Amino acid sequence: MDENMTVIEQYRDAVEHLYRSRTSQSAALHEQAKAVLPGGVTRFTNFYPPYPLTMVAAKGCMLLDADGHDYLDFVGNYGSLIHGHTNPAILEAVRAQLGKGTAIAASIPEHTRFAQMLCARIPSAEMVRFCNSGLEATMYALRVARAYSGKSGFIKMQGGYHGLHDAVEFSTSAQGPDSVMQPNCPGIAPSAANEIFVVPFNDLAAVETTLQTHGSHIGTIMLEPVMGAAGMILPAPGYLQGLRALADKYQCVLIFDEIQTLRMGEGGAQALYGVTPDLTTIAKIIGGGFPVGAVCGLRKVMSLFDPSSSGVVNHGGTFSGNNISLVAGLKAMELLDGAAITRLESLSAALEQGIQNALSQLHSPCVVTRAGSMLHIHFARQAPQRAEPAAPYAAGLYRVLHVSLLNNGVFISPRGTLYVSTAMNAEHIALATRTIEAAVPAMNAFLAEQKQ
Ligand SMILES: Cc1ncc(COP(=O)(O)O)c(C=O)c1O
Repeated sequence: MDENMTVIEQYRDAVEHLYRSRTSQSAALHEQAKAVLPGGVTRFTNFYPPYPLTMVAAKGCMLLDADGHDYLDFVGNYGSLIHGHTNPAILEAVRAQLGKGTAIAASIPEHTRFAQMLCARIPSAEMVRFCNSGLEATMYALRVARAYSGKSGFIKMQGGYHGLHDAVEFSTSAQGPDSVMQPNCPGIAPSAANEIFVVPFNDLAAVETTLQTHGSHIGTIMLEPVMGAAGMILPAPGYLQGLRALADKYQCVLIFDEIQTLRMGEGGAQALYGVTPDLTTIAKIIGGGFPVGAVCGLRKVMSLFDPSSSGVVNHGGTFSGNNISLVAGLKAMELLDGAAITRLESLSAALEQGIQNALSQLHSPCVVTRAGSMLHIHFARQAPQRAEPAAPYAAGLYRVLHVSLLNNGVFISPRGTLYVSTAMNAEHIALATRTIEAAVPAMNAFLAEQKQ
């Protein structure tokens, strides 16, 4: 057992003891789940140590666990519930659609209505195709980009996350440079590595060098305009514009993965930064709490999905364009107007400042990055410019913070990301800030032990 493990075990005695004593029902339910669900969960992002809570209800920005405790929900199903849970207007739209059919192998008027709305809002969207998840959206986007450019290779950013399909399951976390071309887990076809070229975010020179060297093979540049899972890393001034110019110079399809960043403004990050990609992938908030994804983009590329054309690029899916997801999503996007975004912006700015103040007594450097209503806590001196390996003690520190917050009724992602929803108000923000401040002594105790 290494020294780090010993420190984590010491911390467990203090913070996790309380967690276990508060959540015996969740513990028992997790034991039952482990027999039939690997690790007791149905997606790995739902797992965290020592065992995840089981939730039995959700309303607005609150969750209720199996032991009867309330939690202020800053995860919002990883950024997909921008209006919180059980929003009355969304529920009403869903109820109305339930009586009219949940899934029909035919078009419904809402397909067109929703596509029209997205085209009106998102600068690159001239046409839209719906699917079931963000993973599917990036998979189809890459496929149609390859068909359009005639080249199978693509550039991806180090630490960029685009879902879990083989083509993009390389370098999705901020590992060191040696691990750039390692698949992220066992089971990924090693041949996928032949098509992918990983470069650091915010580094135009690296993109140009890669295109100069491998341009005959590379037809696509795919990135999140703000790196989400890597920690809300913002693009440097001129970076996105520079990528647009390089994509044009080397005849590449530029894909913005706006699966997280769409919530930054009515037209997503591309409208805010004034850079129009060829294709955009979206998901999460456009489902109003139901499974969804979509590829949108310029007509000249999207037309390749037209089944009446020769050489069509296949896009299907039994549940693509699902009636419930689309009516819920359409209502959610109607509710996300300029006023809602302004309100989210002010709540989120207050939270950013509040967390920064709350962590000012932490015996470790700490910085909060923010992209609209998405925030990330970094245990680093400066806001990162690209995905960087975390400090060696960061994993333990996140764990102390996470479990301490759960003990006090605040639910954030274990990796330190928070999403603000329109269901929140200033009191929720103040409560979260106070709770984070209250976690600092336990975090400092962890740091002190770590240094011994
Ligand atoms: C930027 C980005 N792309 C793709 C995905 C994959 O989306 P999904 O989980 O809906 O498959 C995510 C999910 O978090 C994401 O953040």
